[in-house]
Amino acid sequence: MTQNSIHTELQEIEKNLASLKTEDQLRWLANYAPGAVTLSTSFSEEDQILTHQIFEQGLDIAVFTLDTGRLFPETYSTWSATLERYQKPITAYYPNDAALQNFVGSNGPNAFYDSVALRQQCCQIRKVEPLKRALAGKKIWITGIRAAHSPNRTDMHWIEWDEGNQLIKVHPLFNWAQEQVKNYINANVIPYNPLHDKGFVSIGCAPCTRAIKPGEDFRAGRWWWEDASKKECGLHVHASVSNA
Ligand code: ADX
Ligand code: SF4
Repeated sequence: MTQNSIHTELQEIEKNLASLKTEDQLRWLANYAPGAVTLSTSFSEEDQILTHQIFEQGLDIAVFTLDTGRLFPETYSTWSATLERYQKPITAYYPNDAALQNFVGSNGPNAFYDSVALRQQCCQIRKVEPLKRALAGKKIWITGIRAAHSPNRTDMHWIEWDEGNQLIKVHPLFNWAQEQVKNYINANVIPYNPLHDKGFVSIGCAPCTRAIKPGEDFRAGRWWWEDASKKECGLHVHASVSNA
C-alpha cells in the first residue's frame, strides 16, 4: 500500500467512527475487517473497558495478552477474574524459549536494571517479538492507549498506521479522561487490577513498575530508574502516517 492510500483509508475509517460511541466503534471495526481485528490487553483499566465492550457484544475481535512471565500476581488474578466474568477466551503469547533461555543465562534474571540496552533486549524478547506473532494476519490492532498517559502520547493520533507491523492501530479511548475511565469501570462493575487502589496507575511487569506519589506523571512508576525519554518498551513505535 502507498502512503497516500493508507492515509485515505485512515481518513475513511475516522469519518465512519467519529460520531459513534466506543462500543459502536468496536462493532463497526469488527464488521469492517472480519476475522482481522484484535485487542491487546495488559488488563489495564482501559483494556478492561474495551474487553468488556467486545465480550458483552460478542464481537468478532480476538483478545490477546503478552504474558512476559514477570507480571504481578494481581495482574494474573485480574486475568482470571476476567475469564470468569465473561467466559470468553483471551489468548496468551509467550516469549520464544531459546531466546529467553540465552538472555537470562547470559545476563541473569534481573538484567533490566543493569543498562537501558539490556532492559530493551528483555522487552524485545518478552513483549515485542511475541507481539509480532499475535498481530500476524491482522488488519486492525486496538489498544487502550490514552493521550493523557504520557507527553509522548499526546502527539499520537487515535487512528494511525503501524509501519513496523503493517497494520492500522486504533486507540478508541484516546481522549477519555482518567475520571471517565474510573466511572465506567465502577458503573459496569468491571473487574480491575487491585494494584490501582494502592497507588499504581500504569502497570507493566512487576520488577519494572512501582506506585507513584500524588502529583507524579502517569508513567513515572514505569522503568523509574531510566531517563524519561527512553521509557517506552517498543510495543508502540511512533506512527509515520495518521488520520491527521
Ligand atoms: S507499554 O508500552 O508501556 O508497555 P502500556 O502499559 O502503556 O504499554 O499499555 C498501552 C497498551 O499497550 C495497552 O492498552 C495494551 O493494549 C498494550 N499492552 C501493554 N502491555 C501489554 C501486554 N503485556 N500484553 C498485551 N498488550 C499490552
Ligand atoms: Fe523485561 Fe521489565 Fe520489559 Fe518486562 S518491562 S519485559 S521485565 S524489561
